Amino acid sequence: MRPCISALAAVFCGWTLVFGIPAHAVTPPLQTQNTTLRQLVLKRPGFYIGSAVDYQALVSNPSYKAILQQQFNQLTPENAMKWGAIHQSPDTYNFTQADNLVEFAIQNKMRVRGHTLVWYKNIPDWVVKGNYNRDQLMAILKNHIQTVVSHFKGKVAEWDVVNEAIEPNGNGLRDCLWTQVIGPEYIALAFQWAHEADPDALLFYNDYNTEDLGPKSVTQYNLLKNLLLAHIPVNGVGLQMHQKTKIPYSISIMSGNMRRLSDLNLRIAVTEMDVSITEPVGEDYSTKLQKQASNYGNALSACLGNKACTSFTVWGFSDAYTWQPENQPAIYSASMQPKPAYQKLYDILYNYIDN
Ligand code: G3I
Repeated sequence: MRPCISALAAVFCGWTLVFGIPAHAVTPPLQTQNTTLRQLVLKRPGFYIGSAVDYQALVSNPSYKAILQQQFNQLTPENAMKWGAIHQSPDTYNFTQADNLVEFAIQNKMRVRGHTLVWYKNIPDWVVKGNYNRDQLMAILKNHIQTVVSHFKGKVAEWDVVNEAIEPNGNGLRDCLWTQVIGPEYIALAFQWAHEADPDALLFYNDYNTEDLGPKSVTQYNLLKNLLLAHIPVNGVGLQMHQKTKIPYSISIMSGNMRRLSDLNLRIAVTEMDVSITEPVGEDYSTKLQKQASNYGNALSACLGNKACTSFTVWGFSDAYTWQPENQPAIYSASMQPKPAYQKLYDILYNYIDN
């Protein structure tokens, strides 16, 4: 076995043994790695490794910008393309931040996932409190979708058209403004309107807690199957994968779910992966980090095991810039050091053989 020559390497040498990968095997120790995640994914043509991007972090933190450029070949604006960011009043669209992010992506040869066109959250008051009737709200939604998609035509490769439309317990569609005023058909309409605006963009349904074979995942499967039966232009499904260390997901369960989705001829994307370090209280920190790495690794392995899975995106790569900093869910620490989860993704991609 190769000796561990530094404290950092010692962490990873110990870690690789825990996961049954011989420490002398194929992956070089982190501090000597010249290769980055975005270089490793080139082994699988058409596959992208992405991160959600916090606009303020990008423009204010050079380390954040450098890691993003080096490690990822796809980005998702974390908030900059949401309705609340872009369309604050009926006749005003502000694309400044989103445009800057798209320009950054173009300059750095990164693909862009657009997020998100229709969601029950982040809708400005002028929409929520406007007391619009069905025809009016349909016109507003159509205008929003088509203005945004047209604006980014040819620059955004794929869109999360409809986000989180299913009840958290899987019991049907979420009760929200869109279902209350337009009805369940808002979903099909949204995909049709987006397709009209950019027929070349890939259109995704995106949701959380749908990576396993549980009730919400079944509801998602049936929703997508019915949309496809009705010839609605849905191209893919985004499995967000906001996970917790206390709930491990096996590769086989996630693979089974992905298989039934790809059997519908849908593309699959892991769109918002992060793994919260939570319970149990008292568990030592290195065990938590190992569990976190394992969750990330299992998801990537399941994704790489299915040819329909075309990208793997983390929802923020650093614990310094995440929607839940208290849970340290990212693959880099708050001080921008790679965590075991980073090394796990690296190992899996390093050892990946396309066949
Ligand atoms: O930018 C303002 C800032 O000016 C203000 O001072 C501050 C005060 O609260 O708020 C800032 O905006 C916040 C924004 O994040 C940027 O940090 C919003 O309040 C906050 O609601 C917003 O949260 C985002 C959340 O979606 C709601 O849009 C998170 O960053 C973002 O990570 C989260 O992402 C969602 C995905 O879109 C869908 N899936 C779940 C995922 C996690 O919740």
